[in-house]
Amino acid sequence: MFELNVKTQREYKIVVTRGNGQLSAFVRERVKGKRIAVITDTNVAPLHLTGLTDCLDGYEVHVLTVKAGEESKNINEYYALTVKLSELGFTRGDGVLTFGGGVVGDLGAFVASTYMRGITLIALPTTLLSAVDSSVGGKTAIDLPMGKNLVGTFYQPHGVYVNVDYLATLPQREIDCGMGEVVKYAFLGGSVTNELIDKGISEELIVECLKIKRDIVEKDEHEGSVRKLLNLGHTVGHAIESLSGYTLSHGECVARGMAQAVKVSARLGLMTAGDEARATSMIGAAAKDLTCPYSTDEIIDKIKSDKKSDGTAVDFVVINGSVAEVKRLGLDELKELLA
Ligand code: GLY
Repeated sequence: MFELNVKTQREYKIVVTRGNGQLSAFVRERVKGKRIAVITDTNVAPLHLTGLTDCLDGYEVHVLTVKAGEESKNINEYYALTVKLSELGFTRGDGVLTFGGGVVGDLGAFVASTYMRGITLIALPTTLLSAVDSSVGGKTAIDLPMGKNLVGTFYQPHGVYVNVDYLATLPQREIDCGMGEVVKYAFLGGSVTNELIDKGISEELIVECLKIKRDIVEKDEHEGSVRKLLNLGHTVGHAIESLSGYTLSHGECVARGMAQAVKVSARLGLMTAGDEARATSMIGAAAKDLTCPYSTDEIIDKIKSDKKSDGTAVDFVVINGSVAEVKRLGLDELKELLA
């Protein structure tokens, strides 16, 4: 078992382990009220719910299941979930457990952060992507028709419990999706190396990714500076994801976005041909398809409504040699670099 402490405005613990042996005590230490809402989805509930609810003995447990998929990250689901909490009499001492991947994590955390101005939140990620990235750091979100994650808050969880055994049942596409985020960490320093990634999902891989994320989030909780580095591949990636109507997964799009970031960086003279080849082969080893299926005009149009853009320029994460850095790029310049 590994434990990491995250020293943000709210300090919290991340446990990375196998099995749910420690979960009951972990929840009991944090949820002092009598009710727990497990927010989960239609993929995870049939596979893992019984094993979870067995650990919540003594609580009044309410399972709130949303349809699996990005389309659930919307204002109607958000409204339905908060109304449900209210109808069930949830108070601030009660808890929300998000049990699933990035969609359930973002949506459930947004519910927890806003219901009664914030109730206890424990994240139980069940996908590689949510284990290494979205469950930690306090970003909560729902989407708007104009783009992804356009409404949300920063709200650190009260604890994160990663049971790596859940990742064993993931379909290959979901593993590929998570690997798209994992490879990002290889450009952010630390010890997420090619060799570690090649070994596949392990507690060590998850912990090394989380250490990098923790260190960045501790320095810059609200994404004023270094946290922007975590958006490597996301500017073009979010545009592709949104243009695909979310038929392409987040990680698949981040990998494609990273390939575009490599192209932009090389064209800016920040990468040699050797750097470019090494980076492309690393990203290619983690993701099957690095093509961008949309025109540059379509991508730039989407980027205009991205949070990182003011409509004329964007904070774009480039790779200098082999290390990520943020560069403000005009959208006209970016359009030429992407073409
Ligand atoms: N997923 C990027 C971040 O947490 O900042």
